[in-house]
Amino acid sequence: MSKRTIVAMPGDGIGKVVLDETIKVLNAAGFEADYIEGDIGWEFWKSEGNPLPQRTIDLLAEHKIALFGAITSKPKDEAFDELSPELKDKGLVYSSPIVGLRQHFGLDICARPTKSYTGNPLNFIRRGADGGIEEPIVDAVIFRQNTEGLYGGVEWSNPNEQVYDTFMSHPKFKQNFGDVPKEEISISTRIFSKNATERILRASFEHAKEYGYPSVTLCEKPNVIRETSGMMYKMALKMQAADYPNIDLWNTNIDAQMMWLTKNPENYGVIVAGNMFGDIISDGFAGLIGGLGFACSAQMSSEGIAVFEPTHGSAPKYADYNTSIVNPIAMVESACMMLDYIDEKEISTKIRKAVADVISDGNVRTYDMMKMTGRPDVIEKGAASTIDMADAIIAKL
Ligand code: NAI
Ligand code: MG
Repeated sequence: MSKRTIVAMPGDGIGKVVLDETIKVLNAAGFEADYIEGDIGWEFWKSEGNPLPQRTIDLLAEHKIALFGAITSKPKDEAFDELSPELKDKGLVYSSPIVGLRQHFGLDICARPTKSYTGNPLNFIRRGADGGIEEPIVDAVIFRQNTEGLYGGVEWSNPNEQVYDTFMSHPKFKQNFGDVPKEEISISTRIFSKNATERILRASFEHAKEYGYPSVTLCEKPNVIRETSGMMYKMALKMQAADYPNIDLWNTNIDAQMMWLTKNPENYGVIVAGNMFGDIISDGFAGLIGGLGFACSAQMSSEGIAVFEPTHGSAPKYADYNTSIVNPIAMVESACMMLDYIDEKEISTKIRKAVADVISDGNVRTYDMMKMTGRPDVIEKGAASTIDMADAIIAKL
């Protein structure tokens, strides 16, 4: 087997420790790779005025596959204050490097699996009809369109005349906002393109087909958001009829889905949605399986570029602890998604089994799994450190 090259982008805060520990797990599992570190994050904003240096973009363009920890983003004014003095007069404006990566490489498909592990004390439970406690098995994968929609960045406050006049030509705008002074109007658009919508729908159906899920649930709101959600629903119907007759297409509204996810999460498998609804629904499902310590993701382009990352951020308040307390499982799981993507399923299966065994044994649990408040003394109180957890996974391997 030839050695892979993986771009490893630790980023800020806890990103570094979870990525380091994950690479230890990958090595122990027999995955042979060279890791080249990619610079990204706050440090590079402060020192270079660019949190996503061109050299990192070049690295990813060359090697295509990356593991990413997490970055810190701060509001505009704070970002400016922290900029190195000699860069302050250059008119630089901070923008999130992970959003920058998504846009630069067109990482338009985001997959966020949420699968409960047996024995995880954070698993969702509910009361059954007989009054007893039920613990439904959650196994849902959310496919989120990652580049368009409400996060597409096409927005205005106090729009210019041309934009304002265009909006005024729409009867609903005129009726609902025609009396509002232009200066008091903010507009954020929700734009869907057919090509990107087709790609996220296709990815979800293909995933259902490959992994044997009986249904794909489109989670939007086509009865109200008629143009964007409506287009997506029509395209999903057509795609299902033409290419996936053995997979059911379910259509749920985002609001109702948020209610159903705690009533009957076990009924859902593959879920597909636009950018913001996918963001919301994936956090909702992540909460059922343990939250940020367990939530992993993959972001993929049509050109074979893929970035795998936990959905949590840099958790700055824990970043400087002498002994890191955060749970590395979300990052380890993200690395397993990478292994699946590059067809190293034997190794990913091995790692997932090791993680499952550590969780079901219950001897090694990070503070979140012990339902503690994150503080340095959680270790004295019996919580495992980040390194303890990685070591326990390695011992199982
Ligand atoms: P966060 O995800 O960093 O942390 C929220 C809380 O979740 C933490 O205080 C901690 O209690 C818990 N947590 C996070 N990761 C954990 C883990 N692995 N194990 C156990 N507990 C964990 O979100 P927050 O505090 O809103 O943002 C902090 C910084 O991270 C901000 O600068 C934000 O912009 C950035 N961020 C970056 C993301 C990325 O790199 N993709 C995503 C989300 C936030
Ligand atoms: Mg989110």
